[in-house]
Amino acid sequence: MTTLLPRLHLFEFHDQAWCPAPLREALTDCVNAAWSFTGFWRNAVPHIEDLLDRTGERTILDLCSGSGGPVPRIVHAVAQQMPELRAELSDRFPKPGSLDALGPELRARVRYREQPVDALAVPAELAGLRTVFGAFHHFRPAQAVAMLRSASGSARALAVFEFQRRAMLRSLVPPMGLVGLSPLLAHWTAPRRWWRPVLTAIPVIPAMWAWDSFATIMRTYTPAELVELAEQARAPGYRWEVREARSDGPERITCLAGFPDPRGGVELIEY
Ligand SMILES: C[S@@+](CC[C@H](N)C(=O)[O-])C[C@H]1O[C@@H](n2cnc3c(N)ncnc32)[C@H](O)[C@@H]1O
Repeated sequence: MTTLLPRLHLFEFHDQAWCPAPLREALTDCVNAAWSFTGFWRNAVPHIEDLLDRTGERTILDLCSGSGGPVPRIVHAVAQQMPELRAELSDRFPKPGSLDALGPELRARVRYREQPVDALAVPAELAGLRTVFGAFHHFRPAQAVAMLRSASGSARALAVFEFQRRAMLRSLVPPMGLVGLSPLLAHWTAPRRWWRPVLTAIPVIPAMWAWDSFATIMRTYTPAELVELAEQARAPGYRWEVREARSDGPERITCLAGFPDPRGGVELIEY
């Protein structure tokens, strides 16, 4: 996909240290809601299964997890064939309470690390397939390359997923356009908070969500840019694949997959 929009590294409210915790939570709840009600999370499942198969990993280490994101759903889906599967969620601003609503079976598989984890400095003792959902655009190119090098340097597989693309008009068309309704849909998908209806009605949360969504679109990497980043992180015995589902419909997903492989190299795969 080509775009005429230059990448602009705009700020997002929920990324700021000064953003009040309830607002940060409200905004990451919206991202979470977007994954759930669009069903985009399902498009990540084959890539996750592929990387677990290739590497033999049975643990997912999710970075930048926000309000949980799609990992609990993915674990639920994949664990049908892979009962040993476990996941650990993490974030610079952890929200362990976001897993409170999970049933006991899933709670036994998925935990949220209470200590902050910086995705740019992952502690060596944290093992597993690294995943980053809806957050790779938060990193400037040099930081993004550092994150890729950290994965290849420690021989860990990494899967980065984004569902949005840097395309303004196409972002307004359903199902992508429905993401704008996330502040309303979060009432059903996120833990109940007294402040949510109030801040939605004023409408603080929808205004911040609108800005963060715009900033997200403007700083999303295109598949060609992901290839460039992967080229910079190229390492012998480690392979990068930019896997782009061309669909604008419900099947949409962009995946940057990295995994130890004697072939090495960088490839763009459109399907
Ligand atoms: C758009 S949210 C995505 C949340 C979740 N992965 C999802 O898809 O619903 C981005 C998350 O990245 C986190 N984040 C940003 N920079 C980070 C960093 N350097 N290390 C860890 N987390 C970071 C933010 O705190 C935020 O929770």
